[in-house]
Amino acid sequence: MQNLFFNTFFKLLITFIYRSKKNHHVIFLFLWLIRYQKSMKQKILITGGTGYIGSHTVVELINEGFEPIVVDNLSNSSADVLDNIEKITGTKPVFEQFDLTDKAKLDAFFEKYTNIKAIIHFAASKAVGESVEKPLLYYRNNLVSLMNLIDCQLKYGVSNIVFSSSCTVYGQPDVLPVTEKTSRKDAESPYANTKRVNEDILHDAIHANPQLNGISLRYFNPIGAHPSALIGELPLGVPQNLVPFITQTAAGLRGELKVFGNDYDTPDGSAIRDYINVVDLAKAHVVAIKRMLNGQSKANYEIFNLGTGNGYSVLEIVKGFEKATGVKLNYKIVDRRAGDIEKIWADTTYANNELGWKAEATLEETLLSAWKWEKNLRNIL
Ligand code: NAD
Ligand code: WQD
Repeated sequence: MQNLFFNTFFKLLITFIYRSKKNHHVIFLFLWLIRYQKSMKQKILITGGTGYIGSHTVVELINEGFEPIVVDNLSNSSADVLDNIEKITGTKPVFEQFDLTDKAKLDAFFEKYTNIKAIIHFAASKAVGESVEKPLLYYRNNLVSLMNLIDCQLKYGVSNIVFSSSCTVYGQPDVLPVTEKTSRKDAESPYANTKRVNEDILHDAIHANPQLNGISLRYFNPIGAHPSALIGELPLGVPQNLVPFITQTAAGLRGELKVFGNDYDTPDGSAIRDYINVVDLAKAHVVAIKRMLNGQSKANYEIFNLGTGNGYSVLEIVKGFEKATGVKLNYKIVDRRAGDIEKIWADTTYANNELGWKAEATLEETLLSAWKWEKNLRNIL
């Protein structure tokens, strides 16, 4: 609406300048208008924007001059995150609390916020173990949310979407490192299956509607926190993921870290992953958004691996944490965790070359940022 008004005004002004004899005032107004248009920020809908990766991406989008609009049902996050984003960036993002599976509310949202340029769809249920216990919850939440969003994209003319996918779609690959061309394996859990099916839904919807553009970003293992320690990962209850478990053990909340397995076919016997700094990951989303908005996509639907290209074992992470922080970790080796894969890391060549993006942070910096965040949460000096 705003843009329509200014475009019409712009055209009238140009006609006026053309016809005007004494035109210096008009030229002044013309230049002012160009400046105003340039300063108008592009609106990006961030679903799940108060969550772990979403909140870091909101910060990077604000830093790059976008106007993120956050939607979250707060099922796995808190609205306090918005105040902390304001402390970091000086801007408190617009926030709407509702559930994306509620189609009427999503429609009302798009009626209210016109001229959204793109969507980054983070919102999803993400606990692998819980998805085995409650598969329907996972299929309903993760699939219906995306389908509702795509329906609204078509109805309200929002062309661009970035989807949070996961390296979990590769399962245990036969060849390492994995490229985007590595074939996907049957999913190990309902959660993993929602990522696979959502990629297919997006692919097929874009194929049928060429006015749509989509990018699936397959994250490897996101860890760490913003260097300000004002935002980070906030697991509910006992953490399932390695790094939050490590920081909570170091903070004294957990008695001991269990290292799941030391009999894998890896140099030290513990499992290997590609751990990527969450701020680096967030920056890749800004690049993906700009790629679509600037018409640089090579196809209507694209896929990129987001990792560092380096694999670290669980024991290397434990030792790396101790070295970076000087805090000794109480840990013991136990049996393998059911459903875990042995080793995976990304081939990042395609993402690095095509996106012009590369993960920058060292493992040490990233582990330190996770510890700084945990200490800040627990008021540890
Ligand atoms: P998160 O739980 O911190 O953030 C997700 C947010 O979505 C939460 O704030 C939650 O309240 C919200 N949400 C969930 N369902 C919703 C719904 N129906 N309507 C509105 N809001 C809803 O998770 P995260 O770690 O930030 O992950 C973001 C995305 O990245 C997810 O799609 C996840 O599957 C994917 N991903 C995460 C990882 C990881 O290890 N963290 C790895 C690969 C992919
Ligand atoms: C990493 C390594 C564990 C905890 C999961 C999801 C995946 C993706 C990221 C979203 C493994 C070991 C862990 C502990 C341990 N999420 N570990 N002790 O399993 O690679 O991936 O999160 O898409 O889908 O499955 O990450 O952090 O749980 O584990 O030894 O207390 O640490 O066995 O080898 P994972 P993780």
